[in-house]
Amino acid sequence: KIHPVILCGGSGTRLWPLSRKSYPKQFTPMMGDETLFQGTALRLSGATDGIAFEKPVIVTNSDFRFVVTEQLSRVGIDPGAILIEPAGRNTAPAVLAAALHLEARDPDAIMLVAPSDHLIRDAAGFHAAIARGLPSVDAGHLTLFGITPDRPETGYGYLQLAEAANGGPVPLHSFVEKPDAETAARMLSDGSYLWNAGIFLFRARDIVAAFERLAAEVVPPVGAALRQAEVDLGFLRLDPEAWDAAPDISIDYAVMEKAEDLHVVPYDGDWSDLGGWDAVWRASEMDDDGNAAGEGATAIDCRNTLLRSDSERLELVGIGLDDMIAVAMKDAVLVAPKSRAQDVKKAVSALREKE
Ligand code: GDD
Ligand code: MG
Repeated sequence: KIHPVILCGGSGTRLWPLSRKSYPKQFTPMMGDETLFQGTALRLSGATDGIAFEKPVIVTNSDFRFVVTEQLSRVGIDPGAILIEPAGRNTAPAVLAAALHLEARDPDAIMLVAPSDHLIRDAAGFHAAIARGLPSVDAGHLTLFGITPDRPETGYGYLQLAEAANGGPVPLHSFVEKPDAETAARMLSDGSYLWNAGIFLFRARDIVAAFERLAAEVVPPVGAALRQAEVDLGFLRLDPEAWDAAPDISIDYAVMEKAEDLHVVPYDGDWSDLGGWDAVWRASEMDDDGNAAGEGATAIDCRNTLLRSDSERLELVGIGLDDMIAVAMKDAVLVAPKSRAQDVKKAVSALREKE
């Protein structure tokens, strides 16, 4: 059985104004009725397609704890544990906390670490990829999932395969997290790289050992925070003082870039990290001119434009727009060229300064 570990402590600032500090993107319905968090939990529950999931371990921060329990109960999922981080320290401490928690119960526990901001519509295909990864996990390898890249994206990690992909797990030559534009373009044309899907499969003891070997400074504070954790209304609240000493670093930089025995399972089903409005546009249904205009929005003579109104009382109309994003909420509106989608986080910092 596989233990899902769902990371949902991120703030999703690049999807402002839909994503808010108190209610980030993973907890709002982005596409369809379910939230991305609920979609993730459902995809990683039950027993289907030859694999079976245990109750999920959720790692989040204090502000979201009741959103998490409410959204899980609405879709009928009972959490195995909810770990509360006193403060966001990025994904390395979060994954390690979950790993130590599971390892204490069963060192051989297999964990599937999943972010909560992904859209994966083909659950069966995704389960098949997980099943293909299990042999490499049994052999003690940290296992990743690789997506065929179609653009020189700089917001992802790149996986260089050591040999040609044949469907099963392939050893990795190198892992490059978030390259600059030039390097990304080179890796795209090289053809031997896949994108890191940001989903990881390993045994608890293997990832703990990898931390001890490659990012030892993360282990003592996280270990102490877990040992001194307080059980509070069913939440496992990590000790704030111990946690405070944990470095702020992602698992990609802390472990994956340095690890030597990574394996990757190519996954060619549909997958998108809804990291910014450009990604939302790409994952949306479009008209023949590449416009994604949802309910309450109308595109006239526009091309490759995202128009989205999330307020019932607000009709949004775009005329003659090319490669633009316009998102209207009842209390905030964003308008920007699509090429500046990654800069939306600047809007959030600018507004915070005004507060
Ligand atoms: N609990 C917790 N605590 N979760 C966090 C924290 C934290 O401090 N920070 C981020 N997360 C969650 C986010 O909510 C998200 O679901 C997930 O961890 C990944 O974080 P992102 O910040 O979205 O990472 P990224 O998209 O920039 O990069 C990662 O994913 C890419 C693919 O989507 C990397 O793994 C890349 O290599 C990868 O290509
Ligand atoms: Mg992401």
